[in-house]
Amino acid sequence: RPLVVAIDGPSGSGKSSVSKEVARQLRLAYLDTGAMYRAVAWDCLDRDVDLDDGELVEAAARTLDLELSTSPDAERVVVRGADVTDAIREPRISASVSAVATNLGVRDELIRRQRAIIAAHGRRMVVEGRDITTVVARDAEVRLLLTASEEARLRRRGAQLGGTQSVEDLLEQVVARDAKDSAVASFTQAADGVYTVDSSDLDFDQTVDAVLGVVHA
Ligand code: CDP
Repeated sequence: RPLVVAIDGPSGSGKSSVSKEVARQLRLAYLDTGAMYRAVAWDCLDRDVDLDDGELVEAAARTLDLELSTSPDAERVVVRGADVTDAIREPRISASVSAVATNLGVRDELIRRQRAIIAAHGRRMVVEGRDITTVVARDAEVRLLLTASEEARLRRRGAQLGGTQSVEDLLEQVVARDAKDSAVASFTQAADGVYTVDSSDLDFDQTVDAVLGVVHA
């Protein structure tokens, strides 16, 4: 039977690692929608597409040749045959992705692709992003917002990047991106019928258990 677990949350909330582990434990497929926005940004930078030209950016999304693994164990993102799994995590992508994500034509196209992927998996999937509970899979069996205090999110993102980033870089990557993102997706407050899990004071296992608790509730 169908089981879509929709998880939204801001940067550094632990959303990706928690979503993958939840998918593993429930034996569900996994979709990282953020990777799709990052792939469009990578493609634009790779082809020198002007990020201020909305029509060109939209066209990039509409024609994007993208392959995405849906296994929680092996994340793989391939654009036009090039493996960009690591490249899409680079700070230059994080810095340009909001310009792509605020383009409504891009969103329309990626939402359409995300819904097709969910359907192709028989609606048995953990889907994470910014607008999954509110737009992409409003009809999900389980809808959940994973939040964390700004302090906890900065700490995690810093650890994730191996302590190589200055506090200023982290603020730019987490706080400034939140501000830009909030223009298109409201992920700071749970929509009606959406459970909230605050991970500020929970470790990884506790957060996974809290999410599984909501799924089994
Ligand atoms: O690095 P982080 O986990 O914060 O972000 P991500 O999940 O990789 O998503 C990267 C960017 O894609 C976000 O900053 C948003 O601008 C955008 N995004 C979105 O607009 N809608 C989604 N469903 C997922 C991501």
